[in-house]
Amino acid sequence: MSWAEGQPLARNLRCEDVVAGYGDVPILKGITVTAHAGRVLAVVGPNGAGKSTLLRALLGLLQVRHGRIFLGERDITNEPLEELSRAGVGYVPQIDDVFDSLRVSENLSMGGFVLSRAKQQERLAVVLDVFPALSKLIRRYAGSLSGGERKMVAIARVLMPDPDVLLLDEPTAGLSVELTQMVLETQVRLLATFGKAVLLVEQKAEAALKVADDAAVLVDGQVVLTGSGPEILKNRHVAEIFLGSNIGMNR
Ligand SMILES: Nc1ncnc2c1ncn2[C@@H]1O[C@H](COP(=O)(O)OP(=O)(O)O)[C@@H](O)[C@H]1O
Ligand SMILES: [Mg+2]
Repeated sequence: MSWAEGQPLARNLRCEDVVAGYGDVPILKGITVTAHAGRVLAVVGPNGAGKSTLLRALLGLLQVRHGRIFLGERDITNEPLEELSRAGVGYVPQIDDVFDSLRVSENLSMGGFVLSRAKQQERLAVVLDVFPALSKLIRRYAGSLSGGERKMVAIARVLMPDPDVLLLDEPTAGLSVELTQMVLETQVRLLATFGKAVLLVEQKAEAALKVADDAAVLVDGQVVLTGSGPEILKNRHVAEIFLGSNIGMNR
């Protein structure tokens, strides 16, 4: 039996023609993408393409100058991070995503601090149901965990308040090839299985496209290709796009 049963379907995150940048320079030149409930959207692109800038704009950390962002029917353009979090947007940053000096249980409590005590207990049970491996680690200090385990704690922490949308900034950064695959294929995919809309930003394009239901290739602040992950993986132009950068497609 899954906890997703009987849950109302979560909401989409829709980004329409978004223009944003730093100072007067537009970095995002009209981005349109949708992260659908129950699906993983991978936004991939070479270094400097604007992936992190897109997340900043979505999170209200950077002024959106043109275009709109919707969470379900609600216009959330330029709403502050705190308000977005209350509205159901969860964010897993690339670094500083767990508190090393706190136990796993305490990290999870921090994630659910806005909840009542009863609700927190209920959510903790759900989150441990989603990530059973966490039960064994619950008393450990986050700083003593492996990279893959830490990422699991980071994702679980953001799941505590039950967001509809999860924004993940390069969750595999710094992880080995094996752990990259594990995090993407099990942890990230699992979130979609439970009805969340997952927006995954990744520089490891090949690994990300393999697990993506939907994908967008970002180059110089513009979406140059969209399709399913596997479709884009087969597109003969994609390798060229990534060879243009010194990062390459993967690893
Ligand atoms: N704080 C900033 N101030 C000015 N320009 C920035 C800032 N952060 C990023 N940029 C520029 O925005 C562009 C996109 O960067 P970024 O979104 O970090 O790319 P990616 O995450 O795809 O590697 C780059 O040209 C980068 O130099
Ligand atoms: Mg980045």
